[in-house]
Amino acid sequence: MTSPMISEQTKARFDREVAKYPADQKQSAVMACLTIVQQEQGFVSAQSEQLVADYLGMAPIAVHEVTTFYNMYNQQAVGKYKLNVCTNLPCQLRDGAKALKHLEHKLGIAMGETTADGLFTLQQSECLGACADSPVMLVNDVTMCSFMSNEKLDQLIDGLKSAEAK
Ligand code: FES
Repeated sequence: MTSPMISEQTKARFDREVAKYPADQKQSAVMACLTIVQQEQGFVSAQSEQLVADYLGMAPIAVHEVTTFYNMYNQQAVGKYKLNVCTNLPCQLRDGAKALKHLEHKLGIAMGETTADGLFTLQQSECLGACADSPVMLVNDVTMCSFMSNEKLDQLIDGLKSAEAK
């Protein structure tokens, strides 16, 4: 039975994703369903994982494994701008960790934290597939930023802050 906590609108979106797969393989829609949850709520809570598990007939731990494997899924509320700096080995060799440190200093938060104004969440990420462009980062899971020198990082943060102030 579908959990009563799934709204009709959300259920309709889940149904559309599930319909893309054979009836006996609806678990294949798990990533799409988690994405829908995140779009609607900003993050995927343990309760939402349970709802998705119930809906798809999966073990909750299997859904949790998906949520925690892909770092584009937020497991808690994040700031308006989620900054994911790649610190995987190739980027480490080309200032990836330095870029993360610079952002920690500039934003006054540690990796994994969100600024008090709710604007920025700073995270590290695994390889973003652009090692030659290091330091690289992803903003809000979609906007790739390459060759992020300290100057470019400052421009990015200052630009976003001033856009918010308008
Ligand atoms: S290691 Fe950073 S993009 Fe590949």
